[in-house]
Parts: sequence; C-alpha cells; structure tokens
Amino acid sequence: MSGHGTPIPMQSRAGGPLSGTAEIPGDKSVSHRSLILGALSVGQTNITGLLEGEDILDTAKAMSAFGADVQRIGDGEWTVSGVGVGGFAEPEDVIDCGNAGTGVRLIMGAMSTSPITATFTGDASLRSRPMGRITDPLALFGAQSVGRDKGMLPLTMVGARDPMPVRYTSPHPSAQIKSAVLLAGLNTPGKTVLIEKEKTRDHTERMLRGFGAEIETVETDEGFEITLTGQPELKAQDIAVPRDPSSAAFPVCAALIVEGSEIVLPNIGLNPTRAGLFTTLVEMGADITFENEREEGGEPVADLRVKASKLKGVEVPEERAPSMIDEYPILSAVAAFATGKTVMRGVKELRVKECDRIDAMARGLEAQGVQIEEGEDFLIVHGQSGEVKGGGTAKTFIDHRIAMSFLCMGLATKEPVSVDDGAAIATSFPIFQDLMKGLGADIS
Ligand code: S3P
Repeated sequence: MSGHGTPIPMQSRAGGPLSGTAEIPGDKSVSHRSLILGALSVGQTNITGLLEGEDILDTAKAMSAFGADVQRIGDGEWTVSGVGVGGFAEPEDVIDCGNAGTGVRLIMGAMSTSPITATFTGDASLRSRPMGRITDPLALFGAQSVGRDKGMLPLTMVGARDPMPVRYTSPHPSAQIKSAVLLAGLNTPGKTVLIEKEKTRDHTERMLRGFGAEIETVETDEGFEITLTGQPELKAQDIAVPRDPSSAAFPVCAALIVEGSEIVLPNIGLNPTRAGLFTTLVEMGADITFENEREEGGEPVADLRVKASKLKGVEVPEERAPSMIDEYPILSAVAAFATGKTVMRGVKELRVKECDRIDAMARGLEAQGVQIEEGEDFLIVHGQSGEVKGGGTAKTFIDHRIAMSFLCMGLATKEPVSVDDGAAIATSFPIFQDLMKGLGADIS
C-alpha cells in the first residue's frame, strides 16, 4: 500500500556525469500477470525477476486471498501454486490494491466470472480513478458491481454465476480494459472477443498463450480482434520477467541530459508495444545503442548503451501513444532540455493515470521555468537548449512517475529540483534512489 504514510520530500541536483551499469528491476506489467495467471493455472509456476514493488506485493497478497499459494523464495524469486481457471475462493476480507490500477483492474476481470463476491479498495490515488471502464464490460458477462460515486473504489463485485461470452470493442486504448475482459473470458464458456482500435501492450495475450490458452489476434477493418476460447486448463509455467522498459526510461533519460554520461542497462524488455519512448528519443538525436538483441521468455530484450546527447524537439506521432503511454512524464522532462518544441498529442489517457499527468507535468515544469502549452489531450514543451533553470518544487500527487521524472530532471538543471513527496516511487521502482546514486546521481 502506498500513499497512506507521511510524505517523503526529495531533491536532486546537478553533479558529475552518470556512469556504470543500471540493473533495472522486473517489468511491472509482466509481474502482475505472472502472479495472476500463476494463480489461475494448475501446478506450480516459478517466477524469477519478479518486481518487488508495492503494487506487485499487493497483487501477490490478493492472489493468496483468492486461494492461491504464493511464496517468496528469494530476491525476485517466487512460486505460485494455482487453483485453476474457475477455482478462485471468496476472499475473507477487503482486497487492498494500494496504488495499482493494473492490479485491481486485472484482478476484477479474473474474479468476475466466478460465483464469488469481493470488495476492492486502494490508496487515495486509486480511489479517485475511474472503474466504470472495467465494470461496464464485466457487466456484459453477468458480473454485478457497486462502487462509490461514479463506480469508484471501494467497490464490491459479485461474480457471474453463469457467465456469457462477450464481444466487446474497447472504447479506450487500454491494456487494462483488454486484459480484464480476456481474464473474465477465461472462466466463460465459448469464445470471448475483444476488439481494440489501437494496439496496446500485449503481455496478457503472450502469457495466456504461454500458459496453454487458445488465443489469436487478427487485424480487421475494426482494429485488432482478439479471440479467446474459454475454460482452458492453464498449465503452470516458468517465467523469467524481463526488466521494465518503463523504469529503465528514468536512468536512460537522465544519462541523455547529464553531460559526459555513459551508462549500460542490461536485459531491458523491448516488446514493440512498450518501446515507443526509445524510438522517440532516437528521433530526438539520442545516442542509444541496442546490443545483444534476443528473445527471453517470449519477450524481446536487449542491452542498452546510452550516451549524453544534444536533443532536438520532435512531434510524437499520435499512434505511438499506447506504446509509450507511461513515458510521457519523463519525455516531457527531457524535452525541456532539447532545442525546439516537443509536441505530444492524442494523450488524453494521461489524465486518468495515477494522477492527471498532463496537469502534474505542466505545473511542475512551469515551476522549473519551462514554458509549456497544454490542452485536454495534448502537451507541448518548449525546449531550452540545455539551459533549464530548475529551483522549483513539483507536486507529485501520489504518482511514482511524476516524482521520478522531476528527480531526473534536477540532475541537469541549474538549480536543484524538489518534489513534495517521493513515497510512491516504492510502488514500481523501490531501488530508484540507490540505483541512481550508484550511477553518480545526487538525489536526497
Ligand atoms: C498497464 C496498462 C496501461 C499502463 C499501466 C500498465 C498494464 O494502462 O498505463 O501502467 O499493465 O496493462 P491503461 O490500460 O490504462 O492504458
């Protein structure tokens, strides 16, 4: 759980170049899915490289509450003995998903087609996020739910006793909606079809296939149509979680803006549905090389070598947004150091993340002396050709990525950059500060 404790103010300031090797923790999206699919399979799933951030620990606890046997064996090494599709037990207490939108939404999907009832809550950030986008499609399967205000947490879901298969076109480019529907489809007889107009991260599809489900994606005039055959027997797997490209984004961007830096990041996940930031940075002139490109556990990975670079502003193509949706905060921070403006359009989903990320970045950047333009679904950052004043305090709104973005920015501004609360960093990247310090960053 996060956001319940006292705020942790943090500050970063410019120092020498960053150098060395950054061992990035496991991918958050893949970690959630490993635990959930492990819990829904038969036999013992062995996971290595699991992210041990608060979001994932909350999902691990939730899977135990639904009846799976979840054990931590060592650093990042976990086992899950599953209950099989349709085998979830009714939790005895409220499920607290802390800060984790992905955790709560995927778990709701997974339990919504079993005849059990569960109540979900989370921290102040999660309790203010929309859940109708999940409960609406789950209602089509026959699940009922009642939540606070406009369907927000705390929310109770009564799973469908006789679920009906669903054909659903997702109204938003969201892997969480897609995954909730597919997980609901697992315990539903017949074929569940999910259509997404834009391709979002496909870890759920890849992993379901790996666990033995029959699932296929075809491109049609409507978009990407994914068909899952219900009630498979999922077989336990060995999963090596790739390292999180969304966490790697922070040291990568810091190294680009701190003069003289050169760092290496081994084993970074480069699933094309996740790698949009790296494409954008290269277009901006970033010196990033992808070494030893290979496949591990069904996901493409490579070692990244990053050198400080002079960046130029770019217009990010709207259709790239789903593949870098979590990276707009750090992109807007580095864009401040570029020459010319960086235009980010088609990003209204940023308004419903851990906080309203367009607003949080806009206000925080202004506090560092950066000129921005903002609208309902766009953000434009006017780059200052490497000369960024800093000296301001950014409000982070219980959002890990806002906190880390400003702390990276402060490594290259003229005056230190402060954030009001860095506590949420522990949700996704608990070793952020130590790792950055190890590269030579001054963060306190
Ligand atoms: C995630 C999907 C994205 C992303 C989130 C992780 C996932 O959310 O922002 O951090 O693991 O499925 P949306 O589905 O809301 O786009």
